Amino acid sequence: MEDFKWHVTLETGNDNIDAEHKIFVRLIKKLIHAINNKQEEYYLSRLVLEIQKYTEFHFVSEENLMIDLNYPAFDTHHLQHLKLLEKLNISLNYVELGKETYQVFVSFLIDWFKQHTINEDRKIAVFIQEKSMDHT
Ligand SMILES: [Fe+2]
Repeated sequence: MEDFKWHVTLETGNDNIDAEHKIFVRLIKKLIHAINNKQEEYYLSRLVLEIQKYTEFHFVSEENLMIDLNYPAFDTHHLQHLKLLEKLNISLNYVELGKETYQVFVSFLIDWFKQHTINEDRKIAVFIQEKSMDHT
């Protein structure tokens, strides 16, 4: 599988969000390397668990930031997070049952991450910037 690298186009412009996203990218890279090196199933499933837990943590962290900011599109964004967690759980069940490969799971996560970061998370960063300009 092709490596996944952090790229400047993934930056939202908010340091907190970007720092957590970079950790997410690192976890995905670790899983890709493990898949490519044909590591044992148990280790792959543990890496996936790490990604699942980190995603849950990161969403709570991002949602708390939005609450703190009185972010107007909180409900829409929150719903997107819930939908992803649901999809992630379904996909993981498929992987466990052998109906889906780890490669398909990783590709799905990368696609989702890219489009959500560029389309939704960046809006939070823009909102923060505009809010800080209001106070100057
Ligand atoms: Fe988000």
